[in-house]
Amino acid sequence: MIIAIDGPSGAGKSTVARLLSKELGFEYIDTGAMYRALAYKAYIQGIEINEIEIAEMLKTTNINYYDNQIYLDGENVESLIREEAISLAASKISALKVVREKMVEIQRKIAANKNAVLEGRDIGTIVFPDADYKFFITASVEERARRRYEQLKANKLKTDYANVLNDMIKRDKNDSTRQFSPLKMAEDAVLIDTSKMELTEVVKYIAGYIGGNNVL
Ligand code: DC
Repeated sequence: MIIAIDGPSGAGKSTVARLLSKELGFEYIDTGAMYRALAYKAYIQGIEINEIEIAEMLKTTNINYYDNQIYLDGENVESLIREEAISLAASKISALKVVREKMVEIQRKIAANKNAVLEGRDIGTIVFPDADYKFFITASVEERARRRYEQLKANKLKTDYANVLNDMIKRDKNDSTRQFSPLKMAEDAVLIDTSKMELTEVVKYIAGYIGGNNVL
């Protein structure tokens, strides 16, 4: 069974997808981490983010995801990809067609024949349009920026709220206006606004929704 969880940055997708996968005993696949890992590689190697340079980089790049961890060329980079500079680079790199094609292929392979919760932007629209369940999780941009800010602070990364809000607005624009697979809710997805909801409530709601449909 495939459960697709899409939505903009900072809406609580990761927390919800992680908790939900635990509750259901499903695998959790964070597709954003794949774009972040590519952005990280370009960033540390000083590779410019455009179709030509990145197509070249992809030829010698290996992306893998297992046990909730992202691997770049065999190295676990989970703890290296959450900084704001990488977030912006990930947003830029994820707009490239060559990148999307390769990542979608990897995501389909990793989730094939599994019970999995996949989290991203285009899971319900492009990666698994036939997913068993689709949820689109969103919240106001101010609330999303506030949550991201708290998260960065908790991880002891240097930041301030105004910057995070600005970056969030920029990323929203990049993600939803790009030519290939823009962030868009699938027509058959269930919309959940988490602005005023605890994320544990959201998990309960989704698990109940799935259970209520007599699939589990
Ligand atoms: O979910 P996240 O913030 O870790 O994602 C990082 C970037 O990758 C974000 O700018 C959107 C992009 N992304 C995407 O284009 N498609 C996905 N399925 C997941 C993430």
